[in-house]
Amino acid sequence: MAFHINRRPRRLRQSPAIRAIVEETTLSVNDFIYPMFVVGGQNVVSEVRSMPGIFRYSLDRLLDELAVVTDLGIKAIDLFPNYPEREKDKTASESYREGTFYLEALSKIKARYPQLCVMTDVAMDPYSSDGHDGLVETRPDGSMEIRNDETLEILGKMSVAQAQAGADFIGPSDMMDGRVGYLRQTLDAAGYPQVGIVSYTAKYASAFYGPFRDALGSAPKFGDKKTYQMNPANSREALIEASLDYAEGADMLMVKPALAYLDIIKLLNDNFDVPIAAYNVSGEYAMIKAAAQNGWLDGTRAMLEVLTSIKRAGATVILSYFAKEFAMLR
Ligand code: PBG
Repeated sequence: MAFHINRRPRRLRQSPAIRAIVEETTLSVNDFIYPMFVVGGQNVVSEVRSMPGIFRYSLDRLLDELAVVTDLGIKAIDLFPNYPEREKDKTASESYREGTFYLEALSKIKARYPQLCVMTDVAMDPYSSDGHDGLVETRPDGSMEIRNDETLEILGKMSVAQAQAGADFIGPSDMMDGRVGYLRQTLDAAGYPQVGIVSYTAKYASAFYGPFRDALGSAPKFGDKKTYQMNPANSREALIEASLDYAEGADMLMVKPALAYLDIIKLLNDNFDVPIAAYNVSGEYAMIKAAAQNGWLDGTRAMLEVLTSIKRAGATVILSYFAKEFAMLR
């Protein structure tokens, strides 16, 4: 042989044992928050058409499903409500009215599964007749504006109602300015200093939310969300959002979606010393499911590969519809 290869990286790939001991990133069921959908009524289990394996449950069936989920070792869920169109209005008043099925679900879940960490969504869209995350006002010239500060008041009432129902963490997902500070002050003043805030810090105006909006019937009735959600082209802006949320008291900073934004996950993880969460959103789930159903790729391997990439990029917490499927592999 004319040459000598001194460093041979393949030595560390020779056997499953060697590969296992040098593995840098290992997923655990402890990494996950499992997003789930609750709907009114009884004995309802309806699959989301664009999210095979993901269901909307009425509370009775959700409580049963949570026995399975918690037995699998999943420690946290993020609960989203699916409201009928007729209960929506301009001010999302159903989001903080006492005794709604969503608030009832939160308190029943915490009563039955006190160990389970329950996170909520704070945004107007599931309850808004306009399908927007903020209050929509029509300007004299007929154009529409999403009102920032007026929205905060509604989000504040929603947060207190959810805290009162037993939420461990609220997840403001609306991208209004100043919301983390406003909600922190509001929760503290209402006597809930222990309720945490997982802020949707860098939430992009993404095409990957499509299946989620199907699940909740929450697509905007007009326009898009680009005046509040971030431009996918920007990363420095994510640092500004993160600095604000951090200063305003967010307990975790979230990047959403995850896969097209792995650089943003790394950026926030490199610059902030609170846990970074990443939301592996509905469209990212649907892509893999659809391809797997067509026999175009191995769904389980693709799932593990993308989840690993999210953790490798720097996410400590992963919100994923794959959480249950992942837990079932162990
Ligand atoms: C809305 C909200 C959205 C998601 C979580 N909260 C959708 C949106 O902003 O339109 C998306 C989650 C997913 O796609 O899985 N406040």
